[in-house]
Amino acid sequence: MNILLIGSGGREHAIAWALSKSPLLTKLYAAPGNAGMRSVADLVSLDVTSHSDVIAFCKEKDISFVVVGPEAPLVSGLVDDLEAAGIKAFGPSKAAAQLEGSKAFTKGVCDDADIPTAGYGRFDTKEAALAYISKQGAPIVVKADGLAAGKGVVVAMSEAEAKEAVEACFDGEFGSAGAEVVIEEFLEGEEASFFVLSDGTNVLPLATAQDHKRAFDGDTGPNTGGMGAYSPAPVMNATIVQQTMDKIIKPTVATMAARGTPFKGVLFAGLMITKDGPKLIEYNTRFGDPECQVLIMRLQADLLPLLLATADNSLDQVSAQWSDDVAMTVVMAANGYPGSYAKGTEIRNLDAATADEDVKIFHAGTKADGDKILANGGRVLNVTARGSSVRESRDKAYAAVEKVDWPEGFCRSDIGWREIAREGK
Ligand code: AMP
Ligand code: GLY
Repeated sequence: MNILLIGSGGREHAIAWALSKSPLLTKLYAAPGNAGMRSVADLVSLDVTSHSDVIAFCKEKDISFVVVGPEAPLVSGLVDDLEAAGIKAFGPSKAAAQLEGSKAFTKGVCDDADIPTAGYGRFDTKEAALAYISKQGAPIVVKADGLAAGKGVVVAMSEAEAKEAVEACFDGEFGSAGAEVVIEEFLEGEEASFFVLSDGTNVLPLATAQDHKRAFDGDTGPNTGGMGAYSPAPVMNATIVQQTMDKIIKPTVATMAARGTPFKGVLFAGLMITKDGPKLIEYNTRFGDPECQVLIMRLQADLLPLLLATADNSLDQVSAQWSDDVAMTVVMAANGYPGSYAKGTEIRNLDAATADEDVKIFHAGTKADGDKILANGGRVLNVTARGSSVRESRDKAYAAVEKVDWPEGFCRSDIGWREIAREGK
């Protein structure tokens, strides 16, 4: 079958690589894709915000399945429009993507299904939000309700910082995403990510991972889309996974179905593992980036039948096998990210860096210029490796990072630090 993959990040390069290995695939197109994906997909310059353009392309190229990588097209209803045009798609409907698109919506689902999460208040006026902060005190967490590219959350250690965040939201820093704020209890514990596929009724657990959201070593600096990840996350032991399935995932899927808006796609739970067990921090309704890269590195099944079963309501008929290896990915970003950065700098030596068969470099913001690879975004490369321990995968990933010749880029040097400290070797 012919497939169209929407997106251009490291996540989509990893998905494209996995799909390209499927015997069910005839031809893969990626819109807009990136330079790394050229070896496995035809890149297409489509305006994916124009759903009619996407549908017309699918008809022209006889596309029978569309895989949507990022959240924005999901929240804008691309999957609904494709299905209305008779084209099968992987990803939730617009209504179900509200689990990512609105933090207040997700809090409502948690209330309905008694899902463990941080206590909260939601406010559409500045005065009420400020009064709530005065009453609750700090630490406290302020979140713009809507999509803000991962930047709409302030974990405030003081009341003054929390109030400043509220002022910024209502002053329009996040546009309409900040017209409402959710103010949450500060949760203490270790964060982890858990991924499942849901076809609306059946749930297939995938795997666990841990991201590193801050820009710099020691979890310092500004929040980013993610600077590195590894899978599995040992903090998600069998008991915690079972609790997460029983108390968080299954009640969410059941509530969405009961509301008439079944969730179909990847459900990505951002969790805080507290002393009272796992609590939901947030949902995303797509694979994580860079978490997807480490999941794909460990997946031993064909990805395509899993995605098709999700769309076809037949997840109970498939299974996923995972390698016992640890996979790690180190994000190389342009100097200045997540603030302003230069585009167009040249990256060299990528082939030598991937000579080890346990190493794969997934591209994110790259573009080709003749034989050259140029940086074309904030997060640019995902240097990914597998090994028998976090330490071994870390050593392989950083050995490859050393070989990449890109003076205008940087990465964190401590991805996996929590687990490496625990491995104690
Ligand atoms: P989110 O975009 O909701 O995942 O929030 C971004 C980051 O803020 C999370 O990855 C956590 O590190 C932190 N965070 C969000 N909510 C809380 C909370 N209630 N307590 C502590 N940290 C939080
Ligand atoms: N790495 C976090 C995310 O994809 O939202």
